[in-house]
Amino acid sequence: MEPIELTPEIRERLRAAARMVVFSGAGVSRESGLNTFRGAGGLWERMRPEELATPEAFRADPAKVWQWYAWRYGTVAAASPNPAHVAIARLESLFPSYIVVTQNVDGLHQRAGSRNLLELHGTITRAVCERCGRGREMGEAIAESPERPPLCVCGGRFRPAVVWFGEALPEEVFAQAHEAAATCDVFLSVGTSGTVWPAAGLIELAHGAGALFIEVNPEPTPFSRLADLRLAGPAGEAVPALADEIERSR
Ligand code: APR
Repeated sequence: MEPIELTPEIRERLRAAARMVVFSGAGVSRESGLNTFRGAGGLWERMRPEELATPEAFRADPAKVWQWYAWRYGTVAAASPNPAHVAIARLESLFPSYIVVTQNVDGLHQRAGSRNLLELHGTITRAVCERCGRGREMGEAIAESPERPPLCVCGGRFRPAVVWFGEALPEEVFAQAHEAAATCDVFLSVGTSGTVWPAAGLIELAHGAGALFIEVNPEPTPFSRLADLRLAGPAGEAVPALADEIERSR
């Protein structure tokens, strides 16, 4: 990837910034061996989300949905954070206010050391009872019942603790993400197609509020035209290089 050239204005804004938000999507975990959803090789290119990632699908065929999430959980458990996750965690100590807002359910940001983090779409590392809300570790639930969702002591069924299409985002989490995007000085978007709402609206919100908007994605997105700085390369290369520049600027 080309070395990153920062204009004096961008360097000054990075030096002076107090509040930074990192907004991430499936692309940040691509170099950890996890699939994205859209684009070449994306899961939704060969699987139907309406049959796998909706409450209706779970009602219609709980075993199929459970087995699919068990497969995905297996890929996540076998994966490791990559240099992009590590660089994002490294930046946390450089800013008085720094938060990672992720659409990912893989937990790789936490495994890389990120602490201040909001999971907009939940997590595949946990299962939750549909009836009483009791939570448990997903790996344990799968080990107990690999073929179909295990039952809770209340008689309810466990499901992956992710947000499915057609479901609302966790209110408190989204409210915090919204506040962070509306008040940040720097908004870094990494590895998201920016096509799923309401999450994608955070990009527009931050840009509209005057934040320095940086986009990392090998492919253009609907928001690329708004970017003050666009790094058209893989996150595993672009984010560590950007982190070096941010560190140098501060
Ligand atoms: N580095 C950076 N970006 C990458 C890389 C990489 N190595 N590889 C691919 N990308 C980019 C793609 O160009 C694409 O724009 O990552 C993006 C992934 O987009 P999506 O697959 O649409 O993933 P995401 O934006 O996270 O999807 C949002 O949709 O399916 C739902 O709930 C799911 O959270 C997900 C949401």
